[in-house]
Amino acid sequence: MTLESQMIIIFGATGDLNRRKLIPSLYHLVAKHRLTECTPIICIGRKNLSRDEFITHLSVEDFIKAPTAESMKDLLRRIEYVCFDITSGSSELFAHKIMQIQQQYGCTDNKLIYLALPTSVFHTSAQLIDALDSKTGWKRVVFEKPFGADLHSAQLLNDNIRNILKEDEIYRVDHYLGKELVQNILTLRFANDIFSGAWNNEAIDHVQITVSETLGVEKRAGYYDQIGAVRDMLQNHLLQLLSFVAMEPPIENSTDGLRDEALSVMQSLRPLDKTDIVLGQYGPGTINSKPVNSYLAEAGVKKNSTTETFVAIRAFIDTNRWQGVPFYLRTGKRLEQRYADIKIVFKQRKHHIINRTGQPNTIIIRIQPNSGIAIAFNVQKPGEEDSTESVLMDFCHHCHFGPNTPEAYESILYNIMLGDHSLFPRRDWIEASWAYIDRLRSIADLPVIYSAGSLGPAKADTLLTDDGREWLHEKSEAQALTLANLK
Ligand code: BG6
Repeated sequence: MTLESQMIIIFGATGDLNRRKLIPSLYHLVAKHRLTECTPIICIGRKNLSRDEFITHLSVEDFIKAPTAESMKDLLRRIEYVCFDITSGSSELFAHKIMQIQQQYGCTDNKLIYLALPTSVFHTSAQLIDALDSKTGWKRVVFEKPFGADLHSAQLLNDNIRNILKEDEIYRVDHYLGKELVQNILTLRFANDIFSGAWNNEAIDHVQITVSETLGVEKRAGYYDQIGAVRDMLQNHLLQLLSFVAMEPPIENSTDGLRDEALSVMQSLRPLDKTDIVLGQYGPGTINSKPVNSYLAEAGVKKNSTTETFVAIRAFIDTNRWQGVPFYLRTGKRLEQRYADIKIVFKQRKHHIINRTGQPNTIIIRIQPNSGIAIAFNVQKPGEEDSTESVLMDFCHHCHFGPNTPEAYESILYNIMLGDHSLFPRRDWIEASWAYIDRLRSIADLPVIYSAGSLGPAKADTLLTDDGREWLHEKSEAQALTLANLK
């Protein structure tokens, strides 16, 4: 795939996503010389601002560590601001303005169009994009999650967008797929024979996937109170992680090869039982020694809201490879620590002669923070023949590759610029994941209250303890060791 000259057009440009993620990522791409000379960044917003006022509003320096003057100059020279209201503005006028910028820069007709906008205006914006006909170039249109709020709305949205755009023009973003360690799951599995042979139910006892956040709903109560943790995090980020961990090796080396296998995982998920689901909502508590409010006391949350801020599930995948292996997934807000990881916990088989066991072997894929991969295995304690200790072999990503690993949005943008769809969920995956989530929501009990700053509802522990297992928390021995090594 080759990098071509293109116009980057960002809708919703005065919003947080653009300031915090997209523009800083574009800065890093500029600094790495990954934007062709002729790649203007056209920012579209409703606010009536001049170009200079818009650049002041972006306050890019606040979101980029140690920018160089040269790269900053190169970034800023590309930025254009167009004040336009997509719900009421004239599409001809808009198309004309974009064409003027194209002529001013003398660039090709290729357009990367990023919709950093709420789902409710996706359809209107897609129609506007239709007016931006690219006669001699390509069009790539990027949609941010949430992609629908249930199966029905996702299908409707997909149908509406597909009336205007071809499937290969559509990029649906799940920023977790841009994270370095998420992409590394496939490398770990398929470029290391030591693991690939053991990636099945004969060797693996169970898998734990955790995305734990300390933040509450911040200023997003209006959105979050309608959506909740199941739809905000589980339907997309956690089910994507599950797909990467559990997929079969793709049979063809193509974007669709990967996406076919990810889909197959969704289609093989066993429908959940009520007892496999725990929902929670945070009460008041303490995080990092500071008192925090309950969810119900957050500004913008309905007084009697039953929206969940935590979810844990026990999922099974009905394939030969995974028969009988539970996958425990959990995510929540206002938990004790911020981290995301995947723990692959192996079975413990007793040797028929040598009687030494220890802890189960575990592979820990640390997505954030301190990205890396650790393997816990047992060694003999010095001078104590019969006793073992679990130790870690630990690969620390930034210690090895340095601190300049691309942020998720940098990888996402670069892949779209190249026209690579592999990091973007396909329509069928999205719809299959919604079918699973709709059923979950129709049978789940109401959330139970957990204290902010805790590990979530105690009830979630029973998903594992019923099975004779336990959650491996960040503060488990293995993790504590990992973190100590990194200090
Ligand atoms: C977003 C959710 O998709 O992911 C947020 O809408 C959540 O609620 C965020 O906080 C977490 O992303 P990250 O990259 O900070 O783990």
